[in-house]
Amino acid sequence: MSKSICFIDGLEGILKYREIDINKLVGLPYDAVSYLLIQGELPNEEELADFSARLRGEREIEKGVIDIIRMCNLNIDSMEALRTIVSYMSQFDPDLEDESLEGNTKKAIRLISGIPTIVAAYHRISNGKDPISPDPALSHGANFLYMLRGSQPTELEAEVMEKDFILSAEHELNASTFSSRITASTCSDLYSAIVSGLCTLKGPLHGGARLKVMDMLEEVSSPENAEEFVLKKIENKEKIMGFGHRVYKTYDPRGILFKELAKQLAETNGDMIWYETAEELEKTVLRELVEKKGKPIYPNVDFYSGVIYKYLEIPPHLATSIFAIGRVSGWIAHCFDQYSKKRIIRPRAFMLDEL
Ligand SMILES: CC(C)(COP(=O)(O)OP(=O)(O)OC[C@H]1O[C@@H](n2cnc3c(N)ncnc32)[C@H](O)[C@@H]1OP(=O)(O)O)[C@@H](O)C(=O)NCCC(=O)NCCS
Repeated sequence: MSKSICFIDGLEGILKYREIDINKLVGLPYDAVSYLLIQGELPNEEELADFSARLRGEREIEKGVIDIIRMCNLNIDSMEALRTIVSYMSQFDPDLEDESLEGNTKKAIRLISGIPTIVAAYHRISNGKDPISPDPALSHGANFLYMLRGSQPTELEAEVMEKDFILSAEHELNASTFSSRITASTCSDLYSAIVSGLCTLKGPLHGGARLKVMDMLEEVSSPENAEEFVLKKIENKEKIMGFGHRVYKTYDPRGILFKELAKQLAETNGDMIWYETAEELEKTVLRELVEKKGKPIYPNVDFYSGVIYKYLEIPPHLATSIFAIGRVSGWIAHCFDQYSKKRIIRPRAFMLDEL
């Protein structure tokens, strides 16, 4: 039996991709984790070199796709543009109709490599700048920051971006992955399945929460305002973004890793403001909701990743798209698994009553 794509223990705070703990995976290149998710095993040196070369060879996007980016409304959240552009991208794929494993692998590689280029190009074009060509010498994370900014990121920034993609890559049957799987279960093509995932990830109760965390940090703006902000939210029965999870009833293991990365960036930048504001928010939520009310509301994946994006000076409208850059490997792994089953997912309406 093949290793399960993902394992989550929500009570103990354990996350594994293909039976390997996330704490071990976070030190690997994104390309290796992507290979692991899709192929089921970690690559050996030769397999990784080959897979990386294939990924790096597909980073450029067609000029026709760039033309469509220029035609988008450039004042919208990048997810609005991304789902449209990925849908359009399929028209240029010479293997679109090849449903063999190799045909689907070629599409998968184009999606994993093309999506970061689209997000960076959309950002630059919407700021009146020309897109930057990808640099095949750089890692997945470093190349994305380079295409976004037009300059090389620091070593720490590149490492943080790479880890962000790894920690966002997979999370079992979350809403967007379920959407992708349903589309794949009809034997529709991989682009359609990924567009389904993108449309679902966009919602603020899912991937859109990262953007809301960034907005919240801006609104709170300093550690001194954090306590009052949380107390007001609780009094008004409003949710605090970046907290709570349907599966984790303890600290999200990705949240712990993101918190450490946020601290490293803050200390290296010599600017603790976002980190300390986040820590105060967390302290108040834990005191008010966990200790006093016994609710399992801990920071989730979106909380400290939102802090990281503040330090990386990522505009909030890109936050969900950047989540998608990491998650696409997980969606693809699930689609491949679904294709192998050749069975449509068709829940009955009464099941909704149990959700
Ligand atoms: C993620 C989320 C949708 C999970 O929802 P869920 O499992 O359906 O949990 P519920 O919404 O039923 O919440 C259970 C209780 O905790 C409270 N709660 C959950 N998340 C909360 C939050 N972020 N802030 C404050 N209270 C929260 C709910 O109000 C509810 O309280 P009640 O029992 O008094 O009515 C929810 O926690 C949330 O909306 N979080 C904020 C958005 C977010 O960060 N999403 C990213 C998820 S990775």
